[in-house]
Amino acid sequence: MTKILEQFSKDYWENFITQNKGFSEACVLKNAMSPHLVNELNLGIMEVLKNRLSREDISDGFRVYIESKEQDDKYLSDLCKSPPNDGENIEEFAQRTFDKKFGIIINSGEKHSDRISENIIKSISPLIDIAGLPPLGVEITIFIGNYGWTPLGIHQDHRGENVIHFHLGPGNKSMYVWDEDVYKDLVGVKHNNTDIEPILPHAKEFTFGTGDLYYMPWNKHHVGYTGELSVGITLWFNNPSKFKYINKILESFRIQFIKKDPSILSNQFDMLESKECLNNLLETIDLESQVMSGSLKDFFDFSINEFNYCLLSNAGWQSVPLSKKETINFDSDTHYTQMEGKKIISKDAFKILYKKDNEKLTVYVRGSKFSMHYFESLTTIIDEINKHIIIDVDNYIKSKELNMPTEAFYYFLALLYDKRGFEFID
Ligand SMILES: [Fe+2]
Repeated sequence: MTKILEQFSKDYWENFITQNKGFSEACVLKNAMSPHLVNELNLGIMEVLKNRLSREDISDGFRVYIESKEQDDKYLSDLCKSPPNDGENIEEFAQRTFDKKFGIIINSGEKHSDRISENIIKSISPLIDIAGLPPLGVEITIFIGNYGWTPLGIHQDHRGENVIHFHLGPGNKSMYVWDEDVYKDLVGVKHNNTDIEPILPHAKEFTFGTGDLYYMPWNKHHVGYTGELSVGITLWFNNPSKFKYINKILESFRIQFIKKDPSILSNQFDMLESKECLNNLLETIDLESQVMSGSLKDFFDFSINEFNYCLLSNAGWQSVPLSKKETINFDSDTHYTQMEGKKIISKDAFKILYKKDNEKLTVYVRGSKFSMHYFESLTTIIDEINKHIIIDVDNYIKSKELNMPTEAFYYFLALLYDKRGFEFID
């Protein structure tokens, strides 16, 4: 058990659910985070900024506002030329980068920082045990800035999207909240309402500072105010509509099992009776025959199960972290020999999952998956890695009798390493 888990115990989250009346009311929990956790998350924020700017990864889910105006691609490209320096904190970075009021909104924060994904998921894991996980998982959006009123004006979040805000400071933030009926009586139906002051006296105010948590259900009309520089990590429990869910499952199936077959289909005759199009289509699906011959219900059952294995191997996070190939150009096919002589350890928030099907082993690691011919040594080493202890690879091989070629064993480890199943220890 880690310090962080003790801090956010089951009792802590049960009290949280009492405070917010079963997730139906907004509330602030003062001093929820330890200074150590706040520091870790702040380091994570700098990690995200540095990774995204230095990789020029700003085309999706990275927005910057200056004086409430969203900036264009040219501005973002220029910003990439001066990512945070080593050891720089958010105040130092903001001071040398922005001379006006600014806001930065970053989506999928869990993807770019293990410090954030690991610490937050460990903090909320007892809450997930009590309340469950949304079917498509959880995600993080990061808010940084001293932008004053939220540029969106008074608004409601999307249906079903409840949020916990982990406030890192240094500045405070205030949320002004109107119940649905109160807001309707005041202004009727009005979205993104920037005429805030006249109805402010009717709002409930929630102010939170460094180390506090703020919870808000999706149906509240709200607007935020942050006058001084502050950083917030928002954790979204997005319960999708049934329509969104089926689309996501079909998309996930398409990505996992449809081969990108570029061959051109020929003209057809007798199209009402011919099975040629069907056969061509089935040839693009990369699946075992028992799944192919099942019912439509079996198909969705299988697809959901595959999706859930990936999701849970990533501890419930929606976004998969960058692979070692993407970050350090690690190539499993040629670099697998690097596993020799290494000491390795996995992050204790994440567990590698696997399925054995006859001679095939499918491994799910941090939201990615791959398959290999089954050897008992492979599942034994996964079980060992999942204990989150330091493993000396060569000593491990010497102490166990591998029932497979050592090179293939190294290659398997290289695949796990590439997908972030463990890290090296010096
Ligand atoms: Fe919002």
